Amino acid sequence: MSNKNLKTVDLVPKAADFLGDVVKGLSAAPKSLSPKYCYDEVGSGFFDEICRAPEYYLTRVETAILDQLGTVNLPSNQPIAVVELGGATSDKFRRLMPHIANVKMYMPVDISRDVLFGDAAKLAADHPNLEVAAVCADYQQLAKFPWQEHLKGKTPLLFFPGSTIGNLSEEDTTALMRICKAIIGDSGFMLLGCDLMKPVDVIVPAYSDAGGANARFNLNVLRRINLELGGDFKSENFRHDVQFNHEKKQIDIHLVSKVAQDVHLAGHTFHFKEGEGIYAESSRKFDRADIEKLTAAHGLKPVTWWTDPKEYYALVLLKAAP
Ligand code: AVI
Repeated sequence: MSNKNLKTVDLVPKAADFLGDVVKGLSAAPKSLSPKYCYDEVGSGFFDEICRAPEYYLTRVETAILDQLGTVNLPSNQPIAVVELGGATSDKFRRLMPHIANVKMYMPVDISRDVLFGDAAKLAADHPNLEVAAVCADYQQLAKFPWQEHLKGKTPLLFFPGSTIGNLSEEDTTALMRICKAIIGDSGFMLLGCDLMKPVDVIVPAYSDAGGANARFNLNVLRRINLELGGDFKSENFRHDVQFNHEKKQIDIHLVSKVAQDVHLAGHTFHFKEGEGIYAESSRKFDRADIEKLTAAHGLKPVTWWTDPKEYYALVLLKAAP
């Protein structure tokens, strides 16, 4: 497919060192495995199942908020360029687009090259008057990307939905917020999706759904280690454990060994005590004050909040603080 309004930029992000990261994570105390390795094709299917699980309110609530946004007021005398982080598919952008006047450009950024470029081509074909520039890159590469050159003559709206910010460590959050601020400069905007703090008996089931989609998703990393790296994990010897950490206001997910056991991988033996956990992922929940503090630290301030009637989730429009 070749569309005049489509550009693809491939920064060829470095392939992750799966084996190196796994050996490092399992050699550490406490043991850990990065959640990014849950997302192969099978794992992405499990993640879609999570999004459809009745207990997982995030996707449904964010979608409803997006559909009912109303006009997003972005004072600017230039056309708008929406830059979406993690936008392998344009589903959310397609919902956002009707609410913004004068969108001339869409720049999705993601590491999943085939999905990203395939979806961008479809979007460009569906919207011949929209410039689509898909960028295959990882977050680290974004700091050096010539944004000004690509966004010249347009006002950027950086779109970071999904409350993915809640999965990042403090260090990664700081690094990413710095990049976001550099992209939007003093005259652009950011639209950030944040899962809000709410009763814990609503949050915990979202990560431990009765249908088992969350468990399948997080345990998928063990299946990948066996399949791609030749490990001998017995997934049935691990359970998916979800706790709410009240101090940090976050969900903490571990894969807990049900028995004392040894696991072998690439010449290493990893011993697990009965009840020992592998740290898998955290998902932070925010109060408005947390969002104000986090964004103020990066020279941004909220100008509009969109939430659902129960205030489970927020889309927050931010701009540079004077
Ligand atoms: C991608 N992210 C926003 C999900 C979340 O809700 O924190 C990741 C997830 N992990 C397990 N369930 C959902």
